[in-house]
Amino acid sequence: MPPKATSPDLPPYFNIDPEAAMAQLGAPTTTQAFAEIAQACAGGRDDLASRGMEQGTARTLRRFSTWEITRYLIPVATGHFRRVLKQNPDLPQGTSETEGGAKWFTFDEVLRLKAHFGQEGSKAKEYLPYRPEGLPAKMVAVANFKGGVGKTSTAAHLAMSAALDGYKVLVIDLDSQGSMTSIFGGQVTDEWQTVFPLMARHYARHLRRENQRRLDRGEAPAPLDDTLTDALDVTAQDLIQATHWPNIDLIGAQLNLYWAEFQIPVWRMSGRGWKLWDALTETLQADGVLDAYDIVFLDTPPALGYLTINGLSAADILLVPLGASFLEFDSTGRFFDMLHATFGSIEEAENIAARALGRAGLQFEWDAVRAVITRYDGTQQAELGALMQAYLGSVLSPHRQDFTALIGQAGEQVQGIYEADYRDFNRETYVRGRETFDATYAAFKQLLVGAWARDATHALEKAS
Ligand SMILES: Nc1ncnc2c1ncn2[C@@H]1O[C@H](COP(=O)(O)OP(=O)(O)OP(=O)(O)O)[C@@H](O)[C@H]1O
Ligand SMILES: [Mg+2]
Repeated sequence: MPPKATSPDLPPYFNIDPEAAMAQLGAPTTTQAFAEIAQACAGGRDDLASRGMEQGTARTLRRFSTWEITRYLIPVATGHFRRVLKQNPDLPQGTSETEGGAKWFTFDEVLRLKAHFGQEGSKAKEYLPYRPEGLPAKMVAVANFKGGVGKTSTAAHLAMSAALDGYKVLVIDLDSQGSMTSIFGGQVTDEWQTVFPLMARHYARHLRRENQRRLDRGEAPAPLDDTLTDALDVTAQDLIQATHWPNIDLIGAQLNLYWAEFQIPVWRMSGRGWKLWDALTETLQADGVLDAYDIVFLDTPPALGYLTINGLSAADILLVPLGASFLEFDSTGRFFDMLHATFGSIEEAENIAARALGRAGLQFEWDAVRAVITRYDGTQQAELGALMQAYLGSVLSPHRQDFTALIGQAGEQVQGIYEADYRDFNRETYVRGRETFDATYAAFKQLLVGAWARDATHALEKAS
C-alpha cells in the first residue's frame, strides 16, 4: 500500500501508515539477537582499531615550564629558582625547545625539585604539603545519584591538583563506565583488575571464619567457590597500575565491574553477618595502601548501588557535586534522603544485633560532607547559587566551580585542564579555568588538612 499523501508542512509524526510500519518492523527481538548485535559491534570495533582509531592507548604527561613551576608549584621568585638550579648542578636543569629558550621540566623532575626546596628551602614556605606522620591516608568519595553533575571531572581534577601539590595519590574507579580509568589511561581487561576481587576476598575471609565456627559447632562448612578461592590470593598491589602521572596510581574499572552489583547481594544473603560496608577500607588497610598513599580518591557511578555504598562508607570526606539548577538541587536533596535511609537502615540492623550480643553498635561517621556547585555560570545562576547557599549553609562548599571551556575541548579524549599546555589556549581562558579548579582544590584541602589535624590532636590526647 503506498504511503498516504502527507501535506509538506505537516510534522513527520502524523499519518504514519500502520500497515507500512508493521511491514518495516522486522521480526520480534530475542535474547539471541543481543549476541548478534554484540558481534556486529565487535567487528566494527576491530575495524576501527585496525585503522588506528582506538582510544585510550598509553598516555604521556606534558612538561612544565619554569614560569608555571614558580607560579603554581614551587612558590619562589624565578630568579631565585634559576640560581638554586645553577648552584646545584645535580638537580634537574630542564630542557629548552629552542636555543636559549625557556626551560621545561618533566613532572618527575618537578617532584625532585619540590623535594629539594622542601629540604633546603625556607621552612616558612610550604614546599611540601601537610601530612601528619603515622596517620593513614584520607579517603575521599565523590558521589551523587544524579548523572553528569561533574563527579568524574571533580575527582580527576582534585587528584591532579593534589599530585601537583606533592601528595601521593591513588584513584579508584568504582564506575563500570570507566571514565576515570580512561582519563588516567588505565588498561583493564576484566573484573579481576578492578576492586571486585578485593570485595570477594573480604567476603571469602568472612566465610572462612564462619566455617571455622560451623566446624566448632560440628556443622558442615559452606564451600568456597572458585571465585572466592581465587580472590583470597589477590592483593591491592596486584590491581594498582601506574599512570602517566608519577605520583598518581589507579585501580581501574570497566563494564564487568557491574557484575559486583549482582554478586555482592548474593554473598550478603548467604553470609548475613558479612559487613560488606567495611570491605574496601579493611582490604586497603590490610594491604598497606593507606600507609603508602596520602589521599585515595573514589569515583562512583550515578547510582546508589553496592559499589557506591562501599565507596561512601570507606570515605572520610564525601563530596557531592551538583549544578546550580532546580533539577540538580532537587535530585541532590533526594540523594541525601537516600543516604539517610540506606545508612540508617544498616546502622539499625547492626545495632539490634549488637545489643543482643552486648557489643558496641555501629555509627557511620564522616570527617566532612560537602556539596560542591559545579559548572557554575555566574551570569545565569547567581540567584539559584545564593538560594542554595542560604538553605545548605556550611554543607555547601563556599567555592563554586565555574563552567570552563577548557574541559572537554579535546573532543572525545577526556583531558584534565592540568594536563593541557597553556600555550594551546587563550591566556585569559586558561588562567580563569585554572583558577576555578585551583580554588576547588583549595576548598577541599582545607577539609583535608583540618581532618588530619583533628586526628593528630586526638592521637596526641590519647597518647598523653
Ligand atoms: N567545570 C566544568 N566546566 C565545563 N564542563 C564541565 C565542568 N565539569 C564537568 N563538565 C562537563 O560535564 C559533563 C559531565 O561531567 P562528568 O563526566 O564529570 O560528570 P559525572 O557526574 O561523572 O557523570 P556520570 O554520572 O555519567 O558519571 C562532561 O562532559 C564534562 O566535560
Ligand atoms: Mg562519572
